[in-house]
Amino acid sequence: METLRVSDTWERGNPYEQYVGRWSRQLAPRFLSWLGVPEGRAWLDVGCGTGALCAAILEHCAPASVAGVEPSVGFVGSAKQNLAGRAVLHKGSADSLPLADASVEVVVSGLVLNFVPDPRRALIEMRRVARDGGCIAAYVWDYAGKMELMRHFWDAAVELDASAAKLDEGNRFPLCRPDALQQAFAGAGLGQAEVTSIDIPTRFESFDDYWQPFLGGQGPAPAYAMSLDESRRARLRDRLRDRLPRDADGSIALFARAWAVKA
Ligand SMILES: C[S@@+](CC[C@H](N)C(=O)[O-])C[C@H]1O[C@@H](n2cnc3c(N)ncnc32)[C@H](O)[C@@H]1O
Repeated sequence: METLRVSDTWERGNPYEQYVGRWSRQLAPRFLSWLGVPEGRAWLDVGCGTGALCAAILEHCAPASVAGVEPSVGFVGSAKQNLAGRAVLHKGSADSLPLADASVEVVVSGLVLNFVPDPRRALIEMRRVARDGGCIAAYVWDYAGKMELMRHFWDAAVELDASAAKLDEGNRFPLCRPDALQQAFAGAGLGQAEVTSIDIPTRFESFDDYWQPFLGGQGPAPAYAMSLDESRRARLRDRLRDRLPRDADGSIALFARAWAVKA
């Protein structure tokens, strides 16, 4: 079966929030507590999306300032609404950050590095804008392993259409493994980085609560779901309904693991 070409789609904030933003908002504070950055620092969030990590920095880290950089006009608009003027938001890309050299103390990036075409260049840019002695850190989903809501999706998709394997984020993103992250940091001159896993529970009240967000079309798996015609999408939905573990009340309890890295 021929799979359509599907691009990563980052356009509309609301469907993104329902799909993965709701979990990203739980992950961000856990990452920040692992970082343990003192109060009063100037922060930059690269690929800030709808503002999940910026919001967590504002809530938990008592920052001196927070800036965000994000290429999607739609997401910058959502972030502006969500953050209500508490962060300075720039439209821009990780490989060419619109900030001066040595202008911030902490540079973070949540769930982004694997989507950037040249992660090494992005890390060098992150280093450029950080002051000496600053902190550079990031996290990415464990797509090939314990990011279970996506793992189930792609495993079912590939069972129905082997050519979907090349779109599977577990295959597409070899960077999302601890050793690869450490190598990427070392290759960008950031030295021996520390890596840890962060697991968050992702509990869905019902199958619909799991499935509906894929129909919003934001991100690789939802974009793939929406590239299928209705009958193929229904087959995928039914396959997922059959394979997902259920509790007695019909809820679906999964885990999402991220790999976090800091230098
Ligand atoms: C999974 S979302 C994560 C958003 C947000 N950081 C969060 O934790 O919810 C991936 C984000 O990476 C952004 N992105 C994709 N390519 C990028 C690039 N070259 N530079 C910066 N951000 C990029 C997307 O626009 C999107 O906002």
